[in-house]
Amino acid sequence: MRVVRRRRVACSFSAESAERIIVALDGMAPDQALAFSAQVEGLRWVKVGLELFVQAGPEVVAQLRDQGLRVFLDLKFHDIPATMAGACRRAAALGAELITVHACAGSEGLQAAQAAAVEGAESTGQQSPTLLAVSVLTSWEEQRLQRELAISQGIAARVSALAQLSATAGIGGCVCSPWEAAVLRAQQPEPFALITPGIRPKGAAVGDQARVMGPAEAIAAGASQLVIGRPVTKAEDPSDAFARCCAELRI
Ligand code: C5P
Repeated sequence: MRVVRRRRVACSFSAESAERIIVALDGMAPDQALAFSAQVEGLRWVKVGLELFVQAGPEVVAQLRDQGLRVFLDLKFHDIPATMAGACRRAAALGAELITVHACAGSEGLQAAQAAAVEGAESTGQQSPTLLAVSVLTSWEEQRLQRELAISQGIAARVSALAQLSATAGIGGCVCSPWEAAVLRAQQPEPFALITPGIRPKGAAVGDQARVMGPAEAIAAGASQLVIGRPVTKAEDPSDAFARCCAELRI
């Protein structure tokens, strides 16, 4: 096991644990995001969301990759199949290795997205990315789904059904709450990826997240990678905070 030794912080952590943690670059201006990612020692993965991408464009993905980082492009594509395919082809050609799509796009859109992502990566000589399906956004509540969208299915059943639809369409994983990970993992064995936000390491503020879980518990529940934002990005010493998240995984 390769161990990353650190001068300034008390923790050491394995390269494998760093691969499991994706730091969300939310709420940062492009320059700030690039300076931040360059500063965190041992960082392997970053998540670029809509806000940063709308400001900085595809260039920011190239710049992060130039820093040696792996990029999760979280733009949650949802459109007609041809447009989903076009967007995923371009995202894969940029070198994004994880890309989100909405499962509600349906099997035709998901299959088109998956096939186009493979083509996009091949066209630039890169590894095929993993597409991740988003099922029910955690901002929805069951009653509101029924009232506003006439969806009477319970959220848990809907998350399972949409994960199954995605897996059948050839999508490589999904984004879910850590509290959904155990049930989904039982239904979708590896290598189907389960990526979980809503993670709080020891001592971190819960903030606006309603249901959180610790890093080691989420991995034990079946998550393959964790998305962590503010506990690292808002920390006084982000390198130290990242190291502590990794060390908590004990892998
Ligand atoms: O700062 P924090 O660790 O709460 O950030 C979590 C990241 O995961 C943010 O990018 C947020 O948008 C995203 N996310 C989430 N909950 C979901 C889906 C995505 O917190 N259900």
